[in-house]
Amino acid sequence: MQSTGQSRRFINPAAPHLWHGGDYNPEQWERGDWELDMDLMDQAQVNVATVGVFSWASIEPAEGRYEWGWLDEALDLLASRGKRAILATPSAAMPAWLSKKHPEILRTGPDGVRRRHGERVNFCWSHPEYLDRCRTMSTLLAERYGEHPALVMWHVSNEYGGACHCERCERRFREWLQRKFDGNLDRLNRAYWTRFWSHRFTEWDQIEIPGGPYGETSMPGLSLDWRRFVTWQVVEFFLNESRPLREHAPGVPVATNMMGTYPGIDYWKLAEHVDVAAWDSYPCFVDRPIGVSDWHKVALQHDLNRSFHPDRPFLLIECSPDSSNWYPVMQLKRPGLHSMEGLLAVAHGSDGVLYFQWRQSRGGIEKFHGAVITHDGRSDTRVFREVASLGASLRSLEGVAGTTVESDCALVYDWENGWAIELAGGPHSERMDYGQTCVAHYGALARLGASIDVVEQGCDFDRYRLIVAPMLYLLKPGVADRLERFVFEGGTLVCTYWTGIVDENDLLLPGPRPGPLAKVLGIRAEETDGLHEGASVRVRFNQVGCSLEGRVVNAHILCDLIQLEGAEQLAAYEGEFYARTPAVTAHRYGQGRAYYVGARLEQHGIDAIVAHAAAEADIRRSLGTLLPEGVIARKRLGGDREYLFVLNLLDSSIEVPVVESGWRDVANDSEWVARLTVPGYGVAVAMRPIDVRGQGDRAGRGGLEVVNR
Ligand code: GAL
Ligand code: ZN
Repeated sequence: MQSTGQSRRFINPAAPHLWHGGDYNPEQWERGDWELDMDLMDQAQVNVATVGVFSWASIEPAEGRYEWGWLDEALDLLASRGKRAILATPSAAMPAWLSKKHPEILRTGPDGVRRRHGERVNFCWSHPEYLDRCRTMSTLLAERYGEHPALVMWHVSNEYGGACHCERCERRFREWLQRKFDGNLDRLNRAYWTRFWSHRFTEWDQIEIPGGPYGETSMPGLSLDWRRFVTWQVVEFFLNESRPLREHAPGVPVATNMMGTYPGIDYWKLAEHVDVAAWDSYPCFVDRPIGVSDWHKVALQHDLNRSFHPDRPFLLIECSPDSSNWYPVMQLKRPGLHSMEGLLAVAHGSDGVLYFQWRQSRGGIEKFHGAVITHDGRSDTRVFREVASLGASLRSLEGVAGTTVESDCALVYDWENGWAIELAGGPHSERMDYGQTCVAHYGALARLGASIDVVEQGCDFDRYRLIVAPMLYLLKPGVADRLERFVFEGGTLVCTYWTGIVDENDLLLPGPRPGPLAKVLGIRAEETDGLHEGASVRVRFNQVGCSLEGRVVNAHILCDLIQLEGAEQLAAYEGEFYARTPAVTAHRYGQGRAYYVGARLEQHGIDAIVAHAAAEADIRRSLGTLLPEGVIARKRLGGDREYLFVLNLLDSSIEVPVVESGWRDVANDSEWVARLTVPGYGVAVAMRPIDVRGQGDRAGRGGLEVVNR
């Protein structure tokens, strides 16, 4: 990806606008209907179509017999109608002739049973025959279409996921372990603490793939490494099929569609190898209508994707124009919600909104999944109008493309840490909820109107003023030192219970909890009390003169028993045998301050502490003022201007105060003054030249009111 203009950086400079479109499968439809698709795309202001996902059987219907004609025609048609194409490699679904000829390519489940043909992403990650064929397919595609005028990006495979448990993958796992431990089995035995329950290995080939239902589940270090290995395999698979694309079509950016915080792959590792971070967002609300914290979860994933490459836009590469058929209840998207959902992605740094899918299938398991063109094939439908309306908005926001987001605070979201917490064996088997805990802390920052980067623990902390690191149970080498230096030099750090406990092999760190972070946090966490579902302990903020003084919050699920070792107590427990002992602490360290939140607090408690820390760190706020509940406000900037997005996540209208001057509404060019009324699911966007941007948007201490609900 290259930059054009001042500091704008486009997904592909050949298509320097916001992309609107999505998965298009012309091979499912008669050639005679394709022109109509193009007309309808014009109407919906669709400018890009993803072609070829799952198309292996149409490209190579029999071994070695290629049918390129339909794909040639589809790409030519898109180009002739002024549209761009994202071309996929078809590896996510192998054709039946291939699995018939080489059934060993099919994936083996955790039960050791090889799967039958069908479904998708149903292949062994290590099978040389499949790797070869994928490489060949990519080479053919890149040679044929690498310079096609429609092509703007590669879409490699589709939603990599799952693991293969065949003997080949098991052997490869052992080889991976041998490399990790330099061929030294003693080191592995030590790292996994195998003297426990006599689990010591004396030969490499005694090591098996761990995990249920029949495998080893009592050695967290081994299970962690298995998950790391699976990620490594996926990355290798990706590199295998993307290398020919880069070789034969240099300059065309390469992406794969990731799945937000999908737990099976450490996307920090995969994202290193893509040019554009792209993800599929299908917020699923199983038993209730969508709420504010659900949107915070979506927003976290947008920020995560942007943070994979903070200097460039990411792409919302799939979402549903309406409901998704695999939801337990297919609640229709309420009027206006679709545009809000799409612009939420743009506000967080996506340079487009793409769908699965353009035309609803007539058959197959996803025939009822939302699509732009529904079964009746018409454009005078509610869904089509919603999509076209978003298309028009994206067109009017053209200048947003290539701009970036600046954040002065970051939330740590780390896959390996999440895995380790899940595998640890205690202290609350059902409710460790690493992901949800990150969302709760992210929500506290979002309520302030902060721009938030979502980072892993290996990131460069010094770029930020505030780091919020919930449940940093697993500490990788050097991280504690870097956090300590960050605070010493003036940064503000917020940590919580269940932090600083193990190293990267899940071996207890020396010294009391929070291990090497004890010094900067100024505390010792002696024990953790697990609370039964429904039980709670009151926590009172009792530090005289502190802006949080007098606040009372309930703690549940986990409560640390804390000794002060330099930190001051901000709040104390009011119940249980640990009444009157510290629950929340703060420690001045060098120029900065480190907070320790010793218990899982209700959301308003998390909001209050994070707001307090954010005010201290003086972080910028997009609106420069309090955000009413249900509003997200974000900025994008680049070139000579900045954009301000104000989104209403709720279905009734909200009044938003406007304190900064110079913002002109993009839709009608009027200036925003005093108050802005944003209708239910509405989005208001304003723009101003960048030199107007003052420092007035720093939070300041007055910002604390935001959580006084
Ligand atoms: C995605 C997938 C698409 C389609 C969609 C339906 O996960 O990439 O191919 O299946 O879900 O929601
Ligand atoms: Zn395998």
